Amino acid sequence: MSSIFEITQKDAAGRIGKLKTPHGVVETPTVMPVINPNLQAIKPSEMRSFGAQMLITNSYIISRKEELREKAMKEGLHALLDFDGPIMTDSGSFQLSVYGDIEVTNEQIIEFQKTIGSDIGVPLDIPTPPDVPRSRAESELETTLERLIEARGMVNDEMLLAGPVQGSTYPDLRQKAAESLREHKFDVYPLGAVVPLMETYRYADLVDVIVSSKKGLDPTVPVHLFGAGHPMMFALAVALGCDLFDSAAYALYAKDRRYITANGTYHIDNLSYLPCSCPICVSHTAEEMKKADNCKELLARHNLYVTFEEMRLVKQSIKEGNLLELVEQRCRTHPRMLEALKRMYSYSDWIEEHDPASKSTFFYCGPESAQRPEVLRFSNKLDRFTITGSAIIRPASKKEFKNYDNDLVFKAPFGAFPAELIEVYPFNAEVISTPDVESLGKALENTIALIELNPDAKFTFIKEEGLEHPLFEKLGKIAEIKE
Ligand code: GUN
Ligand code: ZN
Repeated sequence: MSSIFEITQKDAAGRIGKLKTPHGVVETPTVMPVINPNLQAIKPSEMRSFGAQMLITNSYIISRKEELREKAMKEGLHALLDFDGPIMTDSGSFQLSVYGDIEVTNEQIIEFQKTIGSDIGVPLDIPTPPDVPRSRAESELETTLERLIEARGMVNDEMLLAGPVQGSTYPDLRQKAAESLREHKFDVYPLGAVVPLMETYRYADLVDVIVSSKKGLDPTVPVHLFGAGHPMMFALAVALGCDLFDSAAYALYAKDRRYITANGTYHIDNLSYLPCSCPICVSHTAEEMKKADNCKELLARHNLYVTFEEMRLVKQSIKEGNLLELVEQRCRTHPRMLEALKRMYSYSDWIEEHDPASKSTFFYCGPESAQRPEVLRFSNKLDRFTITGSAIIRPASKKEFKNYDNDLVFKAPFGAFPAELIEVYPFNAEVISTPDVESLGKALENTIALIELNPDAKFTFIKEEGLEHPLFEKLGKIAEIKE
């Protein structure tokens, strides 16, 4: 078992965990700032003050430059970067995917990462882009698997070893790849080649990649979403079970004069105000920031602050059991994110398997909330309620109906449930007083299913004024509806 990772708290398919590395324990979910060993405006030694626990850098870049290579081989990676916490090293696969060819073998780059004392090493996987022909995805996956197995045979306790999951945009290949890696017991499982999906706002396809990969992995292992550094999608990715992130975004966006927020990105030249209270933003006006000689460094610093701020909020949401509320909020900032939310809830049956049975009050945040795993869980358990004799289905506020064998409350998006559960999770949900069509539809579907499961009972439905939905016609055929 993967005893290097201990999960301490869960919400949806997300979790807070502790990852043990040779240079200490990190609490996940967390984001690793990407350190460019050639040019780095913000020093690695400063990264902790932003909230970083672990860094990631590129062993291929280090190995290609004599000065860096010599120092790393002699004094170690931690001395080279002047950082004594955990450092993950990538292999040069990304350079491979951009330039097509690199001058190092899998064996050499694994050996190099071991020699310089990396905490988590990465083999030379092939990041197969989205939408390639299936034959290419399959053959590259085969090569990736061979290299990963070779690497597994070379690494013992000296460093942790990552096993990247590839498979392009073929969910079955992603799942199969994950299942194969699972047998070889890697320490961390990055989901690879998702950068092109994020660059083109294909967040719904990203959800498919995450869920299909996760389905093939042991649920107790740490998962890294390779190249994901925009805080806008942390809540979503964490809710789907990603634990590690890496951000080159903080620096790359800054280079383009872009100012990151958890709700999206601004161009600094379009900002009249700085909507942030980090140390940079409280000590500069928007005009000062635009005109500063070190504008890009200021932006990089701000970008890092908001990146870690969002990750702390995600973690607090897991503690409180309202991560899905945060996901729904974040996914309303861009239509492509809204599509991702809908895609995520198309997997509510899978999320439900991981979601704790009881947590804090369910807040209805919009039509998508009707598809939440908690609602699906209730739908799946309707056959546990046995109802005989007469039954009233009434609004929670109307308590005057006494002469029935069964007292049921109707509350959207759940439907009808025994009145004594009204204060029990998730039926104690905070909902809108007039349900929208999605919520009412889900509740009526469940109510109809419950009635059909109890054909010998006689149901009376007390309909609140103003509630309209096509399913009332169907309900009227199996229950008496009173206005
Ligand atoms: N960085 C971003 N994506 C990838 C990937 O798929 N593989 C590796 N090794 N590094 C990456
Ligand atoms: Zn700021």
